[in-house]
Formats: sequence, structure tokens, C-alpha cells
Amino acid sequence: MVKIAVLGYGTIGSGVVEVLEKNRDVITRRAGEEIEVKYILDLREFPEDPYADRIVHDYEEICQDPEVCVVVEAMGGVEPAFTFAKKAILAGRHFATSNKALIAKHGAELIAMAQEKNVNCLFGASVGGGIPIIRPLNCCLTADVIEEISGILNGTTNYMMTKMADEGSDFDDVLKDAQQKGFAEADPTADIEGHDACRKIAILTSLVCGQQIDFEDIHTEGITKITATDFKYAKAMGRRIRLLGSSYKTGDSYCAMVAPYMLDDSSPLYGVNGVFNAVFVRGNMLGDAMFYGSGAGKLPTASAVVADVIDIVRHKDEHIPLEWRPEKLELVDYRQLTGRYFVRTTAQSAAIEKAFGMVTVVEAEGVTGETAFVTGEMDGYAYEQAAEQMGDILQCIRVK
Ligand code: HSE
Repeated sequence: MVKIAVLGYGTIGSGVVEVLEKNRDVITRRAGEEIEVKYILDLREFPEDPYADRIVHDYEEICQDPEVCVVVEAMGGVEPAFTFAKKAILAGRHFATSNKALIAKHGAELIAMAQEKNVNCLFGASVGGGIPIIRPLNCCLTADVIEEISGILNGTTNYMMTKMADEGSDFDDVLKDAQQKGFAEADPTADIEGHDACRKIAILTSLVCGQQIDFEDIHTEGITKITATDFKYAKAMGRRIRLLGSSYKTGDSYCAMVAPYMLDDSSPLYGVNGVFNAVFVRGNMLGDAMFYGSGAGKLPTASAVVADVIDIVRHKDEHIPLEWRPEKLELVDYRQLTGRYFVRTTAQSAAIEKAFGMVTVVEAEGVTGETAFVTGEMDGYAYEQAAEQMGDILQCIRVK
């Protein structure tokens, strides 16, 4: 019997307990022994809960119990999660988490600590919710240089943009709905401003290059400036608007960014709707691969956390190597990426042509008093220069 402690009894923590309970038999078989939740750390009491007797309020109680083999962190946020993680690992406990904020900031450090103590620090649920992407990157795609890794990495915003496009729903109503369904972060600003996707692409990029990528260095745009008018144009163009986190191998480094894109149906990410996430990987030997599935929510995320716990139980006496060194890799400026841009402006056609040269004008039903167009292929520096020269920009969305 393996005893674990769950830190945080919110959406994910209670999901972990539920998955362990509901799938007890299959989990026991696959882990090789039964996994029991001995403690649940939370500030609150849960008097009606069947696990009420396992609730504790003091982390020391968990740390001092030598029976605890795995500490599962599901509190979210960097602190006190980082302090708790360090304590657990330094005390020789294995550690599993779904916390992308923690891993994006301190992943390399925690992995190094875990290696030193011959325990494991696993974080498969930190990117893509229930989709297995971290383990495949670490174990299966190891023969390749990854040339591109891009994805729909935030379920809340994908859910919102799908509903807004399909049902013409209002931004605030759809956000509330996503929060109620347990997809959104405690502070949904992290979702809609792209910060959550930014941390996830930072983790993925760190894993593909084996070095530390600082999420603060990743250019990040959210979806808060996307309007109903943009959806009208997207529809007229047969495109969908999706928030993507992307990384491209550029020389010896990577070029990473988070931004909304207009995708057409030739993109493998075009068909990813609702709360689903997908990660597209292009390897220099493998070619293309796609990982698709439930990207957020209680049980999909908890399922990935419990899968890590099972992996830990299977490797209780050894450290599973993960290549993510603490040395920082400087990213290439995102403006070096070339692409096309969808632009809405009140500028006159002469000014548009002078700044951007030949463009493709786009029309949308019921939209007047402005011009919309798609530029030719250009890099980010050239776009900024042309946009400044033309002025009067209402909107700009990258086109893929
Ligand atoms: N808020 C996140 C999302 C949860 O919507 O994708 C999963 O990381």
C-alpha cells in the first residue's frame, strides 16, 4: 500500500481523490499496489465529505509522516506550492503536480533537486490537461530535433472562442460558463490574457530544448481584444480564431510566442473546438504528430495527475530522467517570424497600399466604415513599420 498526500481540495485535488476512488481496481493493478490518500491539506473543513477525516491544515503533519510516499500538489500558484514542493523533495518524497505556474518558474530546479534525492518530480497534467504530451516528449520523441511545437493550450479561451463564433455568445457570459464548468483559472485573467498558455509553451519549449525558457521572455497576446466583428470576418474568410502557443526552432534557439491566429482548414489545429486542446509537434525525423484531447477540467486533469502517481509507484526506487537543465536559453525575437496579418483599419486605400503594398481586401456582411485586408508574407519588424506608417489600425490578427 502506497500512501499519498493531496495538497489542495479544490477542483483538481478533489478530482484526484475521485479518480483514485472510482478506478481503484485498475489503478491498483497498474501501479502494482494500492494507493491510499492519507492526508488532504486544505485551509477549509469539509464536514460532509467522505474524506473529512483525512483533512489537515498543517503541512508539517504531512512532512513529518514517513509513511507519505508521494505528495500531490493541486493548489495552483507559485507559493506556497514551491516551498511545499521543495520540502517534500528534500525530505525524500516523490512529487506530482498539475501546476503550470510552479513548473514554468521552478521546473528545472525541482527536477535537479529530485535527481539529487533520487525521487521523482512529475508534472504531466501541467500542459494539455488530460492529454499525454509531457511524457511523449520526454520518452518517445527523444530521437528528434523538434522544429516546431504549437498548440491550443488553454481550454477556457478555446471554449470561449468556439461558443462566440458558433452561437454569437457574449464574452462575459461565455467566460462565466467556463468558470462554472471548472475550466478557468481562479483568476481567469491568466486564461484570457494568454498567461496560462504562455507558461505552458514555456514548459514545452524547455522540454524540447532541454534548457530553461523564461516565460517572461515569451511575447504574449490574449483574446481580450477580439471582437464580434472579427468573428464576422473570420466566418467570411472560412477561418477560425484560435489562441496558439507556438515555438519554432530558429538557428540554435527557439522563437516562441502566444497570440490569437486566424486558421483555415488546412491547419491541423482548425478542428480543435470547445475545451479541447491539441499540441502539434514537427520533428526533423518524425515529421508531424498531433496530440489531442480534453485540455482542462476536473477529471481529465486529475486523470493525468493520477497517471503520474502510478508512474511514480512503478519507479519508487529510481529517478525518471527528464532533460531540463537550469541554464537559460535566450529566445530569438518573435518578430523574426514571418507570416501574414489580417488587419482592420479606417485608413484609405492609398495609405494601405503605400504602407503594405499589395494586400487582399476582405469583406464581411454588415460591417461598414472600415477596410479589412490580409497582408502578404512579412516578418514582425516589417509589419510594425508598415502599421506605424499607415496608422488608424482597429485590429490585427495573425493569419496561418
Ligand atoms: N485554465 C486552464 C485552461 C486549465 O482553461 O486550459 C487547464 O490548465
